Amino acid sequence: MIDDESARAVRHWRATAPDTVLLDGFHALKHALRFGAAVRAAVTSDKAAAVELAEDLADDLTEAIADLLVEVDAGTLRDLVPRVHPTRVAALAVRRGRQANLDELSRRPRQAPVVVLDNPRNLGNVGAVVRLAAGFGVTGVVTTGDIDPWHPNAVRSGAGLHFATAVERLPGDALPEGPLYALDPEGADIRSLTIPDDALLAFGSERHGISPELRKRATRLVALPMRPQVSSYNLATSVAMALFHWGGPDRPA
Ligand SMILES: C[S@@+](CC[C@H](N)C(=O)[O-])C[C@H]1O[C@@H](n2cnc3c(N)ncnc32)[C@H](O)[C@@H]1O
Repeated sequence: MIDDESARAVRHWRATAPDTVLLDGFHALKHALRFGAAVRAAVTSDKAAAVELAEDLADDLTEAIADLLVEVDAGTLRDLVPRVHPTRVAALAVRRGRQANLDELSRRPRQAPVVVLDNPRNLGNVGAVVRLAAGFGVTGVVTTGDIDPWHPNAVRSGAGLHFATAVERLPGDALPEGPLYALDPEGADIRSLTIPDDALLAFGSERHGISPELRKRATRLVALPMRPQVSSYNLATSVAMALFHWGGPDRPA
């Protein structure tokens, strides 16, 4: 009986995988469910442990997670996912629709900034920024350049939070409207200004910084305080500092 269920789950997984994104681990599944992801398949090699984790960390979702998860043996889980997460949970969810993201990104008036990553190169950074964007409740994360911000490695480092904000790749000349605050060590000290809620907060690529095109269009160039002789901060940590300066959720009026 359990073997039948497991075999069915494996067939379903293989049929579903091409059109979905992998949620790698319990926390990714938890976040995705909290933010309304359509989860199409979920497997684990230790359902009792996963349900116990849900009871401890996500009692709002214990029932849903227990209903969704199908137990498969450890070898089968290894066949289904490239790298088994320590929680031994994996799930597949439908990517958020492009049109819904575009609607969200273009809605005015905007209550919280859009983060723009100008030609990012590191998928771990992209996911970390999505996670920050989710935590700060920003409108979305737009990337320019050739990297898909929904690449499995970006989704992995985003911990399932791609479903909590609008994440899209757009051409550099089709960014949402709004004043463009480009983060660059040559700019004005961020502590001397207020970031408006409708800003686009743009960050340069790990290799080359802000592109000349974006620099030219920027309303302001903004610098994070940094000691002389240090050339720059990591991309994701720069986003964290800028969003913290903007204010984030529940900031005083
Ligand atoms: C790793 S840095 C880019 C370093 C790159 N080699 C360069 O020449 O600019 C990635 C991005 O983080 C932001 N950043 C890093 N340090 C910054 C600082 N002190 N002030 C403002 N932005 C910073 C910028 O947007 C930068 O383009």
